[in-house]
Amino acid sequence: MKRIGILTAGGDTPALNATIHGAVVRANQLRIEVIGLMKGFNSLFNPRVPHVHLNPLFQEIPEIDPTMGGTLIGSSRDYVDPEKKVDLDMIVSRLQSLGIEGLICVGGDGTLNGLQPLAERLPTVLAPKTIDNDLGVNYPSEPDEWTRVNMPGTAGGFRYNRIESNAVFGLDNIVNYVTPGYATAVFVSASGVARIRTTAESHRRIAIIEVMGRHSGYIALGSTYGQPDIVLVPEVPLDIEQLAERVKQIYDVQKNVVIICGEGIVDGEGRELGAESNSTDPAGNVILSGAAEALRVKLIKMLGDRYFQLYRRGESAREAIFTRKVGHTQRGGRPILFDRFYAAQLGAKAVELLQEGRNNSVSILQYSESAGFHVEGYDANRFRDRWGMIHARAMHPDFYDAKLMKPSRMGIEYLLPIFTNAIGGDDMEHTRQTLFAAANLSQPYHSINTDINKRIRYIAEEK
Ligand code: F6P
Repeated sequence: MKRIGILTAGGDTPALNATIHGAVVRANQLRIEVIGLMKGFNSLFNPRVPHVHLNPLFQEIPEIDPTMGGTLIGSSRDYVDPEKKVDLDMIVSRLQSLGIEGLICVGGDGTLNGLQPLAERLPTVLAPKTIDNDLGVNYPSEPDEWTRVNMPGTAGGFRYNRIESNAVFGLDNIVNYVTPGYATAVFVSASGVARIRTTAESHRRIAIIEVMGRHSGYIALGSTYGQPDIVLVPEVPLDIEQLAERVKQIYDVQKNVVIICGEGIVDGEGRELGAESNSTDPAGNVILSGAAEALRVKLIKMLGDRYFQLYRRGESAREAIFTRKVGHTQRGGRPILFDRFYAAQLGAKAVELLQEGRNNSVSILQYSESAGFHVEGYDANRFRDRWGMIHARAMHPDFYDAKLMKPSRMGIEYLLPIFTNAIGGDDMEHTRQTLFAAANLSQPYHSINTDINKRIRYIAEEK
């Protein structure tokens, strides 16, 4: 292979530039040219295919900085619809007109689904990224557990269910143990929990902190490093009575409670709390409140004002219980050492997979006690269910103790190898040296987009 393309698709994560860096370093060694396609699949829907040569003369352009968050080649949520054959053919012909012989998509499960039909037309591989840590499977046979039930009138006309698993679960069975982006997201959310704690403590309040992750509870689980009292994950339906009881027990003792909730938590009927609304805007549109807000409403009802007045710890439940979303700070900024290091290796592995002709494969990060972390290649077809669909990985229920509402022993064992040395000395030193730099006050922000713009090239428009 002489020339390959790379694009970053979906929501940004902190280690994307590190993945690009790893890919370009390896491509330089193999004398392969790397073309960065701007804004994910968006570039391929644009007839001019905006792109950047990332390694002219087999040297990395200086704008590639593995310690920077975001992605220098931009990202978008545009995706390839497998039903739209004309679009697919058009994309491939545009890639070919650029001389691209293979494509690396840096993305998550959505991107991997999207690239399936593409891989039938052009060698394509995935380098993983997601803060949600939901790319991969808990054990190799997991995709076979999906069943499809016809549901006329719904989007797609069917719904996916799971049959009961007959696989014995162990940490060594996980395919793609962890994905770059996750560790940094947890670094931010756990720090946020520790900071909110002191306010809850000082003012005798109950804090509900919502973290991202969609339907996966991994970020919530990892946020336990910030020492919340209660952790709620989407994989285990909420038992509000049990929660209220636990909150009271803790509040009675320490006069404050910190609860972490994943944004996708569900009630006993499987309904997402965050999709519930308690108000409408002036036009009558339902305002979605988010999981933490919905939980707050429920706790206010369960605990009542008298509970707080009795202790002289506030006028009302409304005043005592507050919510915060960690929000997009989880996705942004400098990646911590763990993410940078393995993202670079996974990017490099993706180049090797293309070079070895392993079309439609994924570079994955494996872990075992004896071998530690190491990268491998995995055939994407093995992630697909019987209908060809790749599902987001749910956090395995064995990682969670539903009674204590905290990580189980196994959950703790899962987290330890990732986080024990995840922060590099340079991560903290970087903050010390850059955050309060005098120039930050006097100089405007210099965006990477300004520099990359000067390097963007286009192909001649098709007639
Ligand atoms: O998939 C990554 C993620 O950050 C989720 O955790 C979150 O639900 C979603 O993306 C947010 O998307 P957006 O940035 O489009 O609001």
